[in-house]
Amino acid sequence: MALRTIREMGDSVLEKKAKTIKDVTPRIRALAEDMLETMYESGGVGLAAPQVGILKRLVVIDITEERDEPYTMLNPEIIEQDGEQTGYEGCLSVPGKLGVVTRPNRVVVRYNDLDMNEWEMEAEDFLARAICHELDHLDGHLYVEKVEGELRDAAELEKEMEEEAEQAQEETEEA
Ligand code: NI
Repeated sequence: MALRTIREMGDSVLEKKAKTIKDVTPRIRALAEDMLETMYESGGVGLAAPQVGILKRLVVIDITEERDEPYTMLNPEIIEQDGEQTGYEGCLSVPGKLGVVTRPNRVVVRYNDLDMNEWEMEAEDFLARAICHELDHLDGHLYVEKVEGELRDAAELEKEMEEEAEQAQEETEEA
């Protein structure tokens, strides 16, 4: 396994449509392993092949804190979606930034695994958000196109949230 270089916003590979995977070659297997390793190393919850410069329809996702529930999805497609959730989102290709994006609250995704078996998985909440975000990468889209309001600096936003929490704490103590 090896770490791959993550491409950042401005790199034209992130704006291109990725191609369907028809055969799982040793190269594709190595790519999937490297992507998982790269995602874990970077502390991300998902990574799409175009983010490491490869225009193939392949994403890896693991939203768990324990980092023990990885999904490797080939040729993923959202076949059902409903509801709505609005919240902050970030991307390894847009380091240090966060922005508010509205996504469906529930999706059903159909994909192939590394043995080309077909799966359908239902996902809600943050997992549904991660799936939508990663699938957008396969069509050359970044979440920044969908941000409501301003793209925020992650460090600044974190500081603001801490201050708000402290203020709420003080108000509780005063009451
Ligand atoms: Ni991303």
